[in-house]
Amino acid sequence: MFCTLRKFPRFLPLFLLLLAFAAAPAQAAEQKAPKEGVLLAAFGTSVPEALPAFKAVDASFRAAFPNSPVVWAYTSQIIRRKLASQGQPAGGISDGLAALAREGVKVVRVQSLHVMAGEEFTALERAVLLDLRKHPGRFEAVYLGRPLLESRQDAQGVSRAVLAGMDKRRRDEAVALMAHGQAHGRADLVFEGTRALFKESDPLVFMATVEGARGFDDLLAELKARKVRKVWLQPLMVVAGDHARNDLAGAEEDSWASRLRAAGFQVEVNLRGLGELPGVCHVFVAHARENLDDLTREPKKR
Ligand code: CO
Repeated sequence: MFCTLRKFPRFLPLFLLLLAFAAAPAQAAEQKAPKEGVLLAAFGTSVPEALPAFKAVDASFRAAFPNSPVVWAYTSQIIRRKLASQGQPAGGISDGLAALAREGVKVVRVQSLHVMAGEEFTALERAVLLDLRKHPGRFEAVYLGRPLLESRQDAQGVSRAVLAGMDKRRRDEAVALMAHGQAHGRADLVFEGTRALFKESDPLVFMATVEGARGFDDLLAELKARKVRKVWLQPLMVVAGDHARNDLAGAEEDSWASRLRAAGFQVEVNLRGLGELPGVCHVFVAHARENLDDLTREPKKR
């Protein structure tokens, strides 16, 4: 006869011990997994009509990081002052990091909501580093997610998202995108690379900047050379704020829309920020998930 009944009590404690050992590491890992949080850093806007884009970005991040607090920071002091005077205070980088620390966050994912790594992105990086220096040891890791347009893949994803969002445009009609740009030219080459990749996906996509090297006159010359009749305008900015509403679509005669109409083009305006396009939020979320630039650590030795 089997002696199971007799043996079982003898093996039971051993069995339970093994079970406890097997379960322990998983439990410990669960307890030890540091709490993550997301800090979304944008230049900011004081235009209420521009907010749907930020709301869409916020919703994407909350869906992608369901167990993490998602906090916002506006990097522009001018915008923050303006909002505060209107009774709608918005925090800066230090406020955002402090809020995450209060929630017990140990691993921070700072995601830049800038379009390209120009001076605003550099200022963001500096602000985060200065705050880390003031509060050493507060976080175990602080990852800095790069702006929207960095890689070839990013530009292809964004151009697909922009073109998919232009559902009323006919194929022989042009698209002209207004990027920001900067006088000192920091992101000029990212802009030119993006422009080349957009053109590859659709030769009737044109791009110029408000403040960068390639301006409206270059755009006008290109559109004239292509002999298009109708032009769809859209900001290449995360929100359709002041530049989009005034410099791009404004009624004044020096807006892009007015100058194109004066030059004989039919003009349609898409007053929609990039943040409203799901394909764009997807790129931002992918950048936030990268564990490449931990600002609390020295780069790996090579
Ligand atoms: Co500006």
